[in-house]
Amino acid sequence: MKVAVLGAAGGIGQALALLLKNRLPAGSELSLYDIAPVTPGVAVDLSHIPTDVKIKGFCGEDPTPALVGADVVLISAGVARKPGMDRSDLFNINAGIVRNLIEKCAATCPKALIGIITNPVNTTVAIAAEVLKKAGVYDKRRLFGVTTLDVIRAETFVAEAKGLNVDKVRVKVIGGHSGTTILPLLSQIEGASFTEEEVAAMTKRIQNAGTEVVEAKAGGGSATLSMGQAACRFGLSLIKGLQGEANVIECAYVEGNGKHATFFAQPVLLGKNGVESVLEYGKLSAFEQKAMDSMLDTLKGDIQLGIDFVK
Ligand SMILES: NC(=O)c1ccc[n+]([C@@H]2O[C@H](COP(=O)([O-])OP(=O)(O)OC[C@H]3O[C@@H](n4cnc5c(N)ncnc54)[C@H](O)[C@@H]3O)[C@@H](O)[C@H]2O)c1
Repeated sequence: MKVAVLGAAGGIGQALALLLKNRLPAGSELSLYDIAPVTPGVAVDLSHIPTDVKIKGFCGEDPTPALVGADVVLISAGVARKPGMDRSDLFNINAGIVRNLIEKCAATCPKALIGIITNPVNTTVAIAAEVLKKAGVYDKRRLFGVTTLDVIRAETFVAEAKGLNVDKVRVKVIGGHSGTTILPLLSQIEGASFTEEEVAAMTKRIQNAGTEVVEAKAGGGSATLSMGQAACRFGLSLIKGLQGEANVIECAYVEGNGKHATFFAQPVLLGKNGVESVLEYGKLSAFEQKAMDSMLDTLKGDIQLGIDFVK
């Protein structure tokens, strides 16, 4: 398996590359690309870690050499939030970065599974889909918005609050990846029950967890280490699916059946072609149904912004 990380010299990219160097299956290749000139050096640094994963770093304007033969491409290139910024404030810079990188993916590794980390994910995934469609290579099973950070946050916070074993807690998070579009399904967690107040407070904490980090870093960026961990978990799941492992399930922002919006985060079964099937997310509580109903206009607007950007 060959995995390419685009934006690899950044906070997320370096954490992700370190984790992948240690956790990819033996014999894999890791390819790092970033416009930053330090990137080949990041690869040299990581190459001294004794694992059976080959690593190469590329910098400059053209990501093509990093993308040749990639099975999985994870994209975290772009600017991150500073205090006071919303994810949508990143659109002006990141939209163009994602468009340009996806054009290169379409030309060089059109069959790769692509995971987009760059915010605003609700919109950048729609941009990527439009670019891939224009190039005639769009396959909805192969494009993902990485929302795994919302899942790991939910799992951590719920385990802490309820005194559960964090290794066993599983939380589905559906919708999108910003503010009220992030909807953790707390009503479905085995072994945990919440009062109405607890549900409201926990949902809010999960939705605002990114801002919690942005404020704590006081201008130094947004979540990078936890995001590296989340992207590593998601990337490894994509690879397990590609390698034919059974029952690999992750929540991700994908083009599903369009019931709620063109793109929607929900549990998906991963396989040799990426999304094997989009799974049901189960019955919603009254609180969750209300949250779902009130997020959809925002989510659809975010998606339309991406479509219009490319058109
Ligand atoms: N999906 C999520 O849950 C999630 C969570 C946290 C952050 N993010 C997003 O991930 C992105 C990266 O965050 P970060 O903290 O790593 O930022 P960072 O500034 O530390 O790193 C970004 C990297 O992208 C590189 N870059 C910029 N333009 C590029 C281009 N055209 N080609 C290749 N590389 C390019 C920069 O040189 C830099 O190294 C941001 O958009 C952030 O909002 C997403």
